[in-house]
Amino acid sequence: MATHARQGPCGDLASRLFATRKLTLDLAAPLSDADATVQPFPDASPAKWHLAHTSWFFETFVLRDHAPGYRPFDDRYAFLFNSYYEAEGPRHARPRRGMLSRPSLDEIRSYRAHVDEALERTLPSLSPAALELVELGINHEQQHQELFLTDILATFAENPLEPAYGELAPPACFAAEPLSWHAGREGIVEIGAADAGFAFDSERPRHRVFLSAHEIANRRVSNGEWRQFIDAGGYRTPTLWLSEGWDWVQREQVSAPLYWRDEATEFTLAGRREIDWAAPVSHVSFYEADAFARWAGARLPTEAEWEDFASSADPAIGNQLDGAGPVLPRPGGGMFGDVWEWTQSAFASYPGFAPAAGAVGEYNGKFMSGQFVLKGASCATPRGHSRASYRNFFPPHARWQFTGLRLARDA
Ligand SMILES: [Fe+2]
Repeated sequence: MATHARQGPCGDLASRLFATRKLTLDLAAPLSDADATVQPFPDASPAKWHLAHTSWFFETFVLRDHAPGYRPFDDRYAFLFNSYYEAEGPRHARPRRGMLSRPSLDEIRSYRAHVDEALERTLPSLSPAALELVELGINHEQQHQELFLTDILATFAENPLEPAYGELAPPACFAAEPLSWHAGREGIVEIGAADAGFAFDSERPRHRVFLSAHEIANRRVSNGEWRQFIDAGGYRTPTLWLSEGWDWVQREQVSAPLYWRDEATEFTLAGRREIDWAAPVSHVSFYEADAFARWAGARLPTEAEWEDFASSADPAIGNQLDGAGPVLPRPGGGMFGDVWEWTQSAFASYPGFAPAAGAVGEYNGKFMSGQFVLKGASCATPRGHSRASYRNFFPPHARWQFTGLRLARDA
């Protein structure tokens, strides 16, 4: 965890904390209480739950443990809004989060205000260890801001009225950049986060890995190329698929990216709109990304190949989240923004990995089973949140996040 919690790329800790807290509220502004209560499927959470859970995180790990005399807003909320922390005791079942018509959205807003006021009062007297937890809480809330948007997209996608979360300008008439290949470095390189600055525990320690000769594509796979994969029978050709992936395609009757509605339109946070064929394909699973790469005569990059290639790129540029409102992948981006990129690497511990101390040690380490690493950032990632060493992870069938791919190949 951070050793210099007061330092950060976006100003001092307090201003980043309250800007982050405000953005979450702003994201909820267009929603009714009913919109914020729906849970579209068990892996997604209601908007209201995100608002409350991110507050519970600060209330529990900062205020309860480090602010003498802090009084919880409601003693019952710990059961409702603990996500997965075994050390924090029993909790409401995740698939039942959508059953919580109470507390109301306004009550959750009051909960947030209560926590914010306590944070503001307490911040000047917090210990360095507690300030590190504030930094973790900011980064945690940013992760939930992205989930907030992808879960609202999944919620509205369930509604035949095709509601829009907000408005977006129509696609510009870009053509996708021609595909070209860059030679990656060969030999021993270093990956992972250095000791200074904030990073999640799973990004450390920085360590050496060996890269074989390889090339990596200059851009992500586009919607237009995905259309060609579909037209070539990609979803009906078992030899392109991993065995589990082929089972999944048949069981779930998958035949296109998650939100494609017909030959020419897709569902987005701005409602249904024309597919932008030059934009990076999004909402595809690891299984689909892997099958596409095989069809294209390539493969997915390893995490180390991707990270080494991206190490000189600026993680703060590209199409990322700057404020409340709908987002959509756009053509022409670089290594960060638009879509997270699937890698072929399992989410596993680095040599010398040590989970963070205390209850927050459950943050990442216990999920190192059955998940693949995604690199970069998406259009829903708050700008400043990601970096080359960042390790997003999801199970191979997940596709409600903004997930796409970049090709790589052996050289
Ligand atoms: Fe969380």
